[in-house]
Amino acid sequence: MDVFPLDLVAEREEVGEAVDEAVLRVLASGRYVLGPEVERFERDFAELCRVPHAVAVASGTEALILGLRALGIGPGDKVLTSPFTFFASAGAIAWIGARPIFADVDPETALLDPRKVEAALTPDTKAILPVHLYGQMADMRALREQADAHDLRLLEDGAQAHGAMRDDASCGELGDACTFSFYPTKNLGAAGEAGLVVTREAEVAARLRELRDHGSREKYVHESIGTNGRMHAIQGAVLNAKLPRLAAWNARRAELAALYDAAFADSTSVLPLAVVPGAKHVYHQYTVRLAEGLDRAKVLAGLAERGIHAAVHYPRPVHLQPAARAFDPAPGSYPVAEALAERVLCLPIHPYLDAARVERVAGALLALASA
Ligand SMILES: Cc1ncc(COP(=O)(O)O)c(C=O)c1O
Repeated sequence: MDVFPLDLVAEREEVGEAVDEAVLRVLASGRYVLGPEVERFERDFAELCRVPHAVAVASGTEALILGLRALGIGPGDKVLTSPFTFFASAGAIAWIGARPIFADVDPETALLDPRKVEAALTPDTKAILPVHLYGQMADMRALREQADAHDLRLLEDGAQAHGAMRDDASCGELGDACTFSFYPTKNLGAAGEAGLVVTREAEVAARLRELRDHGSREKYVHESIGTNGRMHAIQGAVLNAKLPRLAAWNARRAELAALYDAAFADSTSVLPLAVVPGAKHVYHQYTVRLAEGLDRAKVLAGLAERGIHAAVHYPRPVHLQPAARAFDPAPGSYPVAEALAERVLCLPIHPYLDAARVERVAGALLALASA
């Protein structure tokens, strides 16, 4: 009985019929790019985030690139982000010719630490890009205050946090915009690549629509240099078929996380990341740190021998990636991110996992970590 990080077969049993019908409806409609399915998804996802506007795009990476540009970030501007995230968060900044800078993360949550943000801001910093890593939101109230105090734009990376909340605010409610990815492994996944940006500002939304369509608001009139970043209608339809299940899926993830928490409560070798008071964590990943001195590769191999497919998100922080040489921070610059990259382990969590499997994973990990 292997335990995998996701179960697309079980998911198809639950929503496959609705998804297939939705896809066939698009094929029959002849409307393959944007169109009514995508518009419906934009309306419903904006409502989930409690913001007035959503603009659907081709991927989470495209959402970051266009989100930054729609907020007025351009070549040479500095954008402060987390060194402990999927590379896209920083890569998107560099892709538009801006410059990623970093502040270290909190060792208990792996989220951007507002105190370190304050110290890392420079006069030419134009924006802060917090990442809601693993499904828990960064401290948006503190970051909003900092952004306002320094006249900075605030773009949230919510790729892993569909439906998350913190201090009564949803993703996108306190930022100037928030981006999402619907890569198939996400809490809400498309049947391919898809992404979206939500914003409270009508003009930012209009600019996003323009940028995803070669800078055009009116057919064949190009106001600015954009790209083809539009969402496919089939992805909109798949997401519409699955969105009504998201709340229940997130709730199930939280139940399973509570089982893991209980199993590790007394352990000194397996240390779950903290959930801050006031957070609704949606557990895109359930992540623990292994105590110092434990050999993570050996633990991972031991789990794999038992058919348990754990993963490491992410084994190398952004600033130590080969492509980040141009950003220039040296090893040792962000010690918390570097230590987490060596110690984190993400355990299988998805809505179709059962308590018996969670107990098996937790038991195997505790045994390996104390061996
Ligand atoms: C934190 C984060 N940001 C950005 C992305 C990029 O999204 P996509 O793969 O849809 O381009 C991802 C996901 O892959 C992610 O996890």
